[in-house]
Amino acid sequence: MTTLEDAKVTPVVLGGARGGPSVPTLRKDRYWVQPVVTVTVLTAFVAYSSWAAFVNKNYYVGADMHRNLISPFYSPCLTQSCVPGSHPGTVITWWTISPALLILIFPLGFRLTCYYYRKAYYRSFWLAPPACAVSDAHGSYTGETRFPLLLQNIHRYFFYILLIFNTILTIDAVVAFQQPGVGIGISVGTVVLLINASLLWLYSISCHACRHLCGGGVKQFSKSPIRHRVWTALTPLNARHMLFAWMSLVFVAFTDLYIRLVASGTISDYGFHF
Ligand code: FES
Repeated sequence: MTTLEDAKVTPVVLGGARGGPSVPTLRKDRYWVQPVVTVTVLTAFVAYSSWAAFVNKNYYVGADMHRNLISPFYSPCLTQSCVPGSHPGTVITWWTISPALLILIFPLGFRLTCYYYRKAYYRSFWLAPPACAVSDAHGSYTGETRFPLLLQNIHRYFFYILLIFNTILTIDAVVAFQQPGVGIGISVGTVVLLINASLLWLYSISCHACRHLCGGGVKQFSKSPIRHRVWTALTPLNARHMLFAWMSLVFVAFTDLYIRLVASGTISDYGFHF
């Protein structure tokens, strides 16, 4: 068992790796599990979403199947190459590769600059440091004071843009109740799109930038009762931001996969209409 006396003799190299190069940590627990899980899930998500973005097919289930379901990776589909029925009208004619590549820049930027994900990937990919009270893998620390990490400060602007995307995905979920040729109905796909939009809203409104927008910079809450009320409502959600970050990440990939499987004819989208 590690005693206080052991802790007192831990070598510390000023200006070197935090904790000293020869004694990475005194921790005996499995602190490495969390970084390993983070690397595994994030790598799997990046691999899957990159493939889904480049494959440029099976992202829309249309009237031939009596459905109106679009993958969140391809919505809003604004280029000439979008499959018929998947877009509100052609807007961009000069973009000839996958329309998903135009869209994913924004959710990707939002997640990459997210305060929670920064902690997760700084710890797991850069080992800077891997966990609390564990030696940093790097000899120096410059924070987010220079390019490219200085760009992390644009997170709040991605937040504003993502509100537009969340609105579009919510509209997608609502119009999915339309079942072309048969009427109004509900299917598994409709429910999947609804859950996906809800999780993305929870992830967005629990964002630290959102909480600051609503309650930050207020000197006296008694003079801003509405902002105080909104801030009070958002604070418990903010405390669960990590949970919403992971749930929405996994579910958005699942949503794309589900629509892909239905569009390709691999599975059926069970449902009913009125
Ligand atoms: S802090 Fe995570 S989305 Fe803003």
